[in-house]
Amino acid sequence: MRIAVVGAGALGSLYAARLALAGHAVSVLARPGTAAAIASGGITVEGGERAAEPVRSVRVTTTPAELAGADLLLLAVKTYHTAETLPTLASLRGKLGTACSVQNGVTKDAALAAVFGEEAVLGAMSLEGATLLKPGRVLWTIAASTAFGELDGRVTGRLQAVVAAFREAGLKAEALGNIVAATWSKFGIMVPGATLSVLSRLPLYRLYQEPALAALFIALCREVRTLAASGGVPWEDFPGMRVATLCRLPTEEGVTLLHERGRGWEATGATALKASTLVDLERRKPTELPDLVGYLAAEGARRGLHLPYATILGQAAQAVAEAAAR
Ligand SMILES: NC(=O)c1ccc[n+]([C@@H]2O[C@H](COP(=O)([O-])OP(=O)(O)OC[C@H]3O[C@@H](n4cnc5c(N)ncnc54)[C@H](OP(=O)(O)O)[C@@H]3O)[C@@H](O)[C@H]2O)c1
Repeated sequence: MRIAVVGAGALGSLYAARLALAGHAVSVLARPGTAAAIASGGITVEGGERAAEPVRSVRVTTTPAELAGADLLLLAVKTYHTAETLPTLASLRGKLGTACSVQNGVTKDAALAAVFGEEAVLGAMSLEGATLLKPGRVLWTIAASTAFGELDGRVTGRLQAVVAAFREAGLKAEALGNIVAATWSKFGIMVPGATLSVLSRLPLYRLYQEPALAALFIALCREVRTLAASGGVPWEDFPGMRVATLCRLPTEEGVTLLHERGRGWEATGATALKASTLVDLERRKPTELPDLVGYLAAEGARRGLHLPYATILGQAAQAVAEAAAR
């Protein structure tokens, strides 16, 4: 399969290296400094089951037009770079097979459809964990799975082909009939985690074990459910994302559930894991908060919904993130 990866950061580099190792023809679109590093040293993935050897078969370019002819495009820039990146890809419309966004958030597929056409878009949701150590070098922190699905739930040949390509690359992948619900479930976990991590500056295993923060986590998760329901999106549990259970239980029981999750992470040594918003804040970079809790608050207001936690905690977290970046 010819695969184009847009954005050679943590997740894009992980996918590009693994897919290229499996023999796929992978091109990455990167900014000039990153492109130079990959052109000279390839991409190295640390933390996987294989030795951290550089993968040199990834082709790198800084010119979007060179991605034409790809069977699959994976969008892997941070959400705050989507608005500047997608217009640079507009000339590829009609020259690509399928376009997928592995970004977080719930507006990504509509953004892709506006550029490439609705028929080109396949839904995707990544549960992988990766951190960029330096351009061309990534640490694979969580080997989880990537889910794909047609937005209308059909099982299609292209869906099966993409899942097969990922599996050939030793990446866990699954085809879902309800990718939209899965994407919203992840949003239901991401919004509270991203917001409260910035406000508390705690790693996730600690955040989950603080009863007052866990209660706020549940309050935010319930507000995501309210927005999902107003758009007719089903609210379901998925492995690792028990949002329906969390919202349905009395708050004290939900706090206990989160506490057990935090204890579990602590017991397995996953004590360094932090929300990406907190990692970005610590690196004095922008965060994805505006596309997570910011979107929840703004879209809720637009639809006339009462979402006080998203409004207040979102403003506070955004203010903290901006202050930290100065
Ligand atoms: N990392 C994870 O574990 C993970 C897991 C699941 C989902 N996600 C989601 O996946 C998305 C990407 O996350 P990430 O952690 O991989 O981010 P990242 O490490 O910051 O990588 C994004 C990369 O895209 C590059 N980029 C931005 N605009 C570009 C453009 N116009 N042309 C070429 N390259 C461009 C960035 O370059 P500069 O740094 O020079 O701007 C950066 O190298 C996010 O939405 C994130 O929430 C990440």
